[in-house]
Amino acid sequence: MQVTVIGTGYVGLVTAIGLADAKHDVICVDLNKERMERLSNGIAPITEEGIEEALQQNQSRLTFTTEYPVSDLYLIAVGTPERADGSCDLSAVEAVVKLIHSIQPDAAVVMKSTVPPGTTEKLQTVYPSLRFAMVPEFLREGTAIRDMRNPHRVIIGAHDQQLAETLTDLFKTNAPIVHVDPTTAELTKYAANSFLAVKISFINEIARLADIVGADVEDVAHGIGLDPRIGPAFLKAGAGYGGSCFPKDIAALTTLAQQQGEHLHVIEAADRTNEAQLQYVLDKINPSPGLHVALLGLAFKPGTDDLRDAPALRLAERLTKMGVTVTGYDPAAKTLLDQKESIEEAVAGADLAVIMTEWDEIKQITPELLVKQMKSARLVDGRNCWAYVNEPGNVQYEGIGRPNKTFSNNQTF
Ligand code: UDX
Repeated sequence: MQVTVIGTGYVGLVTAIGLADAKHDVICVDLNKERMERLSNGIAPITEEGIEEALQQNQSRLTFTTEYPVSDLYLIAVGTPERADGSCDLSAVEAVVKLIHSIQPDAAVVMKSTVPPGTTEKLQTVYPSLRFAMVPEFLREGTAIRDMRNPHRVIIGAHDQQLAETLTDLFKTNAPIVHVDPTTAELTKYAANSFLAVKISFINEIARLADIVGADVEDVAHGIGLDPRIGPAFLKAGAGYGGSCFPKDIAALTTLAQQQGEHLHVIEAADRTNEAQLQYVLDKINPSPGLHVALLGLAFKPGTDDLRDAPALRLAERLTKMGVTVTGYDPAAKTLLDQKESIEEAVAGADLAVIMTEWDEIKQITPELLVKQMKSARLVDGRNCWAYVNEPGNVQYEGIGRPNKTFSNNQTF
């Protein structure tokens, strides 16, 4: 089948590769000419494990262009950013649908972009000749290719039975396929992201209490996660969540509910807790003018160079405003901070280092390196990931919700 994918961000590009993997011919359309040229040469616009190999493997089935082709099936994967009032900006989606309608008025249009519940139905009313479906995307950055090849489920939201069948074929998988209406598909996507955000904020609150009572949140998370009703995933306490999805999607969903006179209390609270969590890290740093803080890890999570809503950047902004000197290090993300080429350089002369992203090389920083390079070897672990937590040497270590593990060399537990 020949499929056109509009938008070559994370969702569009990875979906296109997935379809090409399944031997479909895919035309990728994006207004960014330079990006299309680079992609045609097998160069990925994002840092993502396995993406360039996947692009090269599927080169013969992938075409990159800035022109909209005539096609029977269009997948929309353009951005739906947050507006100032928290709602979802649908202007790019609307412009794409209008264009598709002008090219092929009876095309099948599949929404892959995350759009608020009700959007696809509304578009169907405006463009009755187009046949719409909504198939939300659940991939994670950093593991996007793996997630695309091994989805946990495929949700197909379509009224049109024939289109639903075509999409069942197109997204063929061993995972469960759930057939619903478009609005239910849209809400499923938001509910999934909100639930995961709630899990993170929940464990972050427990971490704060663990700090007060002297318990270890890592052991609490392990203990509760063994209950299959709870599950072990997304119970990692730390500096809070960021990224291109959770903050934006939660804002869109809570704003939508508020506009209808409804409050999503649990989800709103997860958002507030996430804000407070950054302040909590800031309090642990105890900033004062002239202090030198090294931020280790800047991307919103490891495995990506994505800085959208990255907690490290928000922290850097607050520290800088308080007169703190900030140096940073990240193996992939590039920022406007005083960013160094190595961990050694970033922590050199610093009063305090803060782990903000759990990259492997950051987890493995040795106590010796910190003691040798820093003015005072203080480490705040905003991801509870430091490999030497039980043998910190002369490093003054503080995690999030973990008992203080500062020992001198000859002390044992
Ligand atoms: C998320 C969803 O997981 C994915 O299904 C959806 O399609 C897009 O949004 P992503 O934003 O790529 O994916 O990253 P994810 O791994 O979910 O992490 C999001 C944020 O939560 C990161 O900042 C991460 O550090 C934080 N996080 C995650 C925690 O603080 N604790 C955890 O236990 C898990």
